[in-house]
Amino acid sequence: MPGIVLVGAQWGDEGKGKATDLLGRDVDYVVKFNGGNNAGHTVVIGGQTYALHLLPSGILTPGVTPVIGNGVVVDLEVLFSELRALENRGIDTSRLVLSSNAHLIPSYNRTMDKVTERFLGKRQIGTTGRGIGPTYADKMQRVGLRVQDLFDSSILRQKVEGALMQKNHLLVKVYNRRAISVDEVLDELEAYADRVRPLVADTAMLLNDALDRGATVLFEGGQATMLDVDHGTYPFVTSSNATAGGACTGSGVGPKRIDRVVAVIKAYATRVGAGPFVTELHDADGERLREAGREYGVTTGRPRRCGWYDALVARYAARINGVTDFVLTKLDVLTGRDKIPVCVAYDVGGSVHRELPASQSDIHHARPVYEYLPGWDEDISRSRSFKQLPPNAQAYVTAVEELSGARISVVGVGAARDAIIQRHSLIP
Ligand code: GDP
Ligand code: IMO
Ligand code: MG
Repeated sequence: MPGIVLVGAQWGDEGKGKATDLLGRDVDYVVKFNGGNNAGHTVVIGGQTYALHLLPSGILTPGVTPVIGNGVVVDLEVLFSELRALENRGIDTSRLVLSSNAHLIPSYNRTMDKVTERFLGKRQIGTTGRGIGPTYADKMQRVGLRVQDLFDSSILRQKVEGALMQKNHLLVKVYNRRAISVDEVLDELEAYADRVRPLVADTAMLLNDALDRGATVLFEGGQATMLDVDHGTYPFVTSSNATAGGACTGSGVGPKRIDRVVAVIKAYATRVGAGPFVTELHDADGERLREAGREYGVTTGRPRRCGWYDALVARYAARINGVTDFVLTKLDVLTGRDKIPVCVAYDVGGSVHRELPASQSDIHHARPVYEYLPGWDEDISRSRSFKQLPPNAQAYVTAVEELSGARISVVGVGAARDAIIQRHSLIP
């Protein structure tokens, strides 16, 4: 009954989509448990590139049942346009299952996301503008709309009325925008009801039954540890639990059913949006990483901030998630460097921290302490076993593994589906 959780260890875009695709061949279900269409996963299969946002990456693997869990926030317009785009490319999407408890992103929350960001001015988070934060806020405030509400028009009307009562005050009086009418929201949402109905199920029941039968379930996290609303660099985070615990609450499966926790981590680091990033580079080295790694956002197209590998972040991710295996991606991007810095400690006003400081202010003021590992020049994109890697690339992986708190079971050496080195199986 293996349950495998896959999460991002850094600030997102570690290559989770590719790792899910790698595992997809050996799993029966792939469950998205948090976030929404703020995610952007690129998967390259046979020279074809697929960009996924709301749908679990497992949708690309024939035979896998993709599940959108209760912890996800769903923009129905995006859901159906993404499905249509995949169908047009010959992907069978017919097995998709959607939780009746997942929350909906109404268009007014996209508006709220944009106006609140604008209002924050210099303090803005740099969100993706997809309505994620306002929708999770509504959920916690208990004025959210759930998938199942689409099928009870009187309940839906009551809930929309309740939500708009507050929001219209804010929109009109604070943000100087027009009020939104209940009917326009109902029209927008109810137009999808008939198409949503066949997808909906009690996904917690479905997944628990599947595990009881001995099926393999992969829980695919969006975003990442340092963007988690509880464990990330708050307030510069997303609004969901992107860490391994979120797999349980976001899908209705108990923690004892999780056998493996796989964290995907880049051989360097990137971040999109605002917030502290201790190893960030503002020089030609950073530019070189961005170009070599093609570090531009899949969702918003923004250039990603780039920096060196931070072992404190890796160890923090190992701890918070209970990581059993790391997938180290994009090692190929480091090719052609004389020396490669790896951050082994932070200097905060003269005091040395070997673990991520508990105080956010310390993280904002930290300076990286680097160890320098020797680089390599050989093209590693065709290596398919650890021994085929040049000795210095092997040494980089081993050194990073020792610093990071869990074994590195897979190494990524290129964007293509087969560009990996498997050291240990990720399936229990
Ligand atoms: P995700 O959000 O974690 O799924 O990651 P993204 O898809 O946003 O960003 C990762 C990018 O790196 C994608 O363009 C992948 O195709 C690419 N990628 C994944 N693994 C590797 C690797 O090992 N080497 C290289 N060069 N690219 C990779
Ligand atoms: P994947 O799944 C990288 C960032 C945004 C912003 C912050 C809050 O592709 O790794 P939000 O719209 O979620 O309220 O924005 O979180 N962010 C991501 N950064 N990868 C992602 O997803 C992200 N999802 C959100 O840039 O800083
Ligand atoms: Mg991404």
